[in-house]
Amino acid sequence: MEQSKDDVTRRGSFIKIGIGSLAVAGCGAAVFGYQFLSPNVLYEPSPIANVGKPDRFPPDSVTVDLVAGIYIMHAAEGFYALTATCTHLGCLTAWKPDLNIIACPCHGSKFNRRGVKIDGPAPRPLAWLKVWVNDEGDLLVDRSTPVPQDHFVRV
Ligand code: FES
Repeated sequence: MEQSKDDVTRRGSFIKIGIGSLAVAGCGAAVFGYQFLSPNVLYEPSPIANVGKPDRFPPDSVTVDLVAGIYIMHAAEGFYALTATCTHLGCLTAWKPDLNIIACPCHGSKFNRRGVKIDGPAPRPLAWLKVWVNDEGDLLVDRSTPVPQDHFVRV
């Protein structure tokens, strides 16, 4: 039986489609294989923030670190850090130097410099965070470790 030119073209097309399908299936299997073999780990930033040398913070100052979401306070008793996250529904609070308070823009909670609530719906004070000085003399704040109030670090 003699093959027509159309049969050869049709056979060639089916072979190309088959090879293309195998290539797509192989790529899919490679992607799923890579995902299956990679560790199922959630990479999060470190909770420890290096806020720099203590002399950056003048006495009786409140410094906001928006990246870390914390306040670094330099009081007469020493340094301490507060979370900037409101304890009501988690909005980012703001320091109001003219009023000498920390205010939440969402529902109006207000806190004093020590994080104590003075007004609004927030159920708890702002958390005090662990602060320490490393070997290089930098102030570090651990955002994941609350400490009791009045936990000052003297430098
Ligand atoms: S989130 Fe701050 S008062 Fe509601």
